[in-house]
Amino acid sequence: MVGDEVKVVHVVGARPNFMKVAPILREFARRGSHESFLVHTGQHYDDALSTSFFHDLDIPAPDVNLAVGSGTHGEQTASVLVATERVLLRERPDLVVVVGDVNSTLAAALAAAKLGIPVAHVEAGLRSGDRSMPEEINRLLTDQISEILLTPSRDADENLRAEGVDSSRICFVGNVMIDSLDVAMARMSGEQDLAAIGLEAGPYALLTLHRPDNVDRPEVLREILAAMDEIARDVPVVFPAHPRTVARLREHGLEPGAVRVIDPLPYFTMLSVMNQAAVVLTDSGGMQEETTVLGVPCLTLRPNTERPITIAEGTNRLVADRSRESILAAYAEAVEEPKRPSRPEGWDGRAALRIVDALEAWATS
Ligand code: UD1
Repeated sequence: MVGDEVKVVHVVGARPNFMKVAPILREFARRGSHESFLVHTGQHYDDALSTSFFHDLDIPAPDVNLAVGSGTHGEQTASVLVATERVLLRERPDLVVVVGDVNSTLAAALAAAKLGIPVAHVEAGLRSGDRSMPEEINRLLTDQISEILLTPSRDADENLRAEGVDSSRICFVGNVMIDSLDVAMARMSGEQDLAAIGLEAGPYALLTLHRPDNVDRPEVLREILAAMDEIARDVPVVFPAHPRTVARLREHGLEPGAVRVIDPLPYFTMLSVMNQAAVVLTDSGGMQEETTVLGVPCLTLRPNTERPITIAEGTNRLVADRSRESILAAYAEAVEEPKRPSRPEGWDGRAALRIVDALEAWATS
């Protein structure tokens, strides 16, 4: 700490981190009481997965980009660990803030914890109970080594307490991703956003897939594509495809049929396309939350979710076996549903205020 000024290093790396850090950085800047230093690990590096989000969300350019790039889990996690440690040794912050559950989240938390620098984890406590998912390992371990656990929903508090975490480390702040969603909602331009990707107003389905459990297994991906091809006879299906998914389609020799595969979309365009869809089919965690607030029916093509509140209070339902028949049956129900927006407790666009309040209280304690 220099005088009263607390130095905070924020670490982000992949697409789902950027909309979470943006409101926190903005709130820190507004209060002016802290020095923020932004590290981009470079886990995501494509314009569509990274730069466009900085632009849309007005995130300041990172103070450093570690450019770790892609690799196996071991390689990527280790590269972030080594490179982040160097930055922390140089910058000597009072606190490190990490968000979400990607490899960069865990690696940065580990680098800080080993140096004795306190870590605050934003989006702590979410659990799918499925340790075959890399993100579940990242969540469990990041929470173990973080001093301040900032949770998005009350179920997350309960998960942490059930793991024996002392209540003094847990702070419910709500869902900071919704702060960014609210900014996006004010800027959406409706039909213009559809025209940009060749869609006309009217019912359509939006598909996204990137989980290894779906895209790395040809037998699963084939079933999903068969269902989507069938749905495409009913309404247009638009599929902004992650580079990993595009590569797997090619490797497995799978054809998307009548599904329209397009490049990943920038943040605002994606939310606008989501908002106007008749139904969303996805394996993304964030989109389960966004569709809950937008009220758009969501079919999650996964056997489990770390975000059960989107089922209990939102529009989400799981299609656990991901068979063609199950997807079509769920689609037939979902497409008839009216919009039903819902805002779980703390998903009010003010989570960043509570996060910075909590961090200020910690700094002065
Ligand atoms: C990562 C996160 C996942 C998150 C997802 C959102 C982990 C373990 N996974 O998965 O939780 O939901 O981001 O997108 O951290 N690639 C590119 N360009 C890029 C980045 C990646 O082409 O800018 C390709 C590379 O071939 C790479 C592959 O995508 O090997 C996977 O990237 P990686 O960051 O390892 O994982 P994601 O699947 O993106």
